Amino acid sequence: MSQYSSVGPSEASLPGTTLERHALDRFRRTQGATGDFTGLLQQISLAAKIISSRVSKAGLADILGLTGEVNVQGEAVQKLDDFANRTLVHCVEAGGHVCVMGSEEVEEPIPIPPQYPKGKYVLQFDPLDGSGNIDINASIGTIFSIHRRKTPGDGPGTLEDCLQPGRDIVAAGYVIYGSSNMLVYSTGHGVHGFTLDPAIGEFLLSHENIRIPERGDTYSINEGNYSRWAPEVRSWVDWIKSDEGGRRPYSMRYIGAMVADFHRVLLRGGIFAYPGDRRNTHGKLRLLYEASPLAFIAEAAGGAASDGKRRILDIEPTALHQRTPLFIGSVEDVREAEEHFRRGA
Ligand code: AHG
Ligand code: MN
Ligand code: MN
Repeated sequence: MSQYSSVGPSEASLPGTTLERHALDRFRRTQGATGDFTGLLQQISLAAKIISSRVSKAGLADILGLTGEVNVQGEAVQKLDDFANRTLVHCVEAGGHVCVMGSEEVEEPIPIPPQYPKGKYVLQFDPLDGSGNIDINASIGTIFSIHRRKTPGDGPGTLEDCLQPGRDIVAAGYVIYGSSNMLVYSTGHGVHGFTLDPAIGEFLLSHENIRIPERGDTYSINEGNYSRWAPEVRSWVDWIKSDEGGRRPYSMRYIGAMVADFHRVLLRGGIFAYPGDRRNTHGKLRLLYEASPLAFIAEAAGGAASDGKRRILDIEPTALHQRTPLFIGSVEDVREAEEHFRRGA
């Protein structure tokens, strides 16, 4: 048989499995699928490409007049997180796949304009995560999750559609704008990573079926908050960097953009944490836009995510911008943290 037969090498061994093809292959195997999900993912990936192109020009912002109130063309210009937010909304709103959106940058649910059809999905996102890193040319990201709508019919979605627990997520993912740009997503069956080839403008499958190691050797936390933590959080961190029992102390890695810190944990193992403290009892991270989507990815890769006591995916949200403490990563590292908190300081 010719090596050029359609029954050739497996798809995974060939370069050129685009995100679209990957999603389409799975869609064709799913009974009753309508193509809505594939369409939505395409729109998210288009937004990611536009955002990544703008992010890569961020250092030229002053030169090109992309910051400040007005640019050289006399047009008002937005900050990058506002730009990312608008780009996502613009790329998705007309597609007919979603009935409402939610964004970390927007107080209320984002309605679909009246002229567009309302779909069966709900998209929620943190359009630009780690925005403090833009000015120092360090990694930033976008985080998203997709739920099925709860309200019946095909009218506009509501707050009720947005306030759904992470366990009901249909798909979640993130984009990392780093030394290369990647989109990582899961529908609950495997976590897959795609690297953007800037020459052809496509996300190509580069990391198939990512699994988090069961245990890592790094912890990732803003230790500058130490004096404000509860005693049991302090003693857990003291313990993780100790050489108790003859083990090697964990190394610390923290870049201050959750997507980037989580991406390292996903590939290498270990634990990322943002606990509550005296000032912010629920920590800093938002349940719907940051914690839940990455918890979904972590579990799909064999890891775990907890607020210190319970599974992140089981928390029932009561407000769009609610925050939660977060401990996420290798299953053994997360369980050990929970066990430590159960015992107390
Ligand atoms: P955002 O840029 O979307 O507001 O998120 C920033 C978050 C998260 O990415 C990161 O892990 C955390 O803030 C860092 O907070 P500290 O500066 O308090 O460590
Ligand atoms: Mn964020
Ligand atoms: Mn953000």
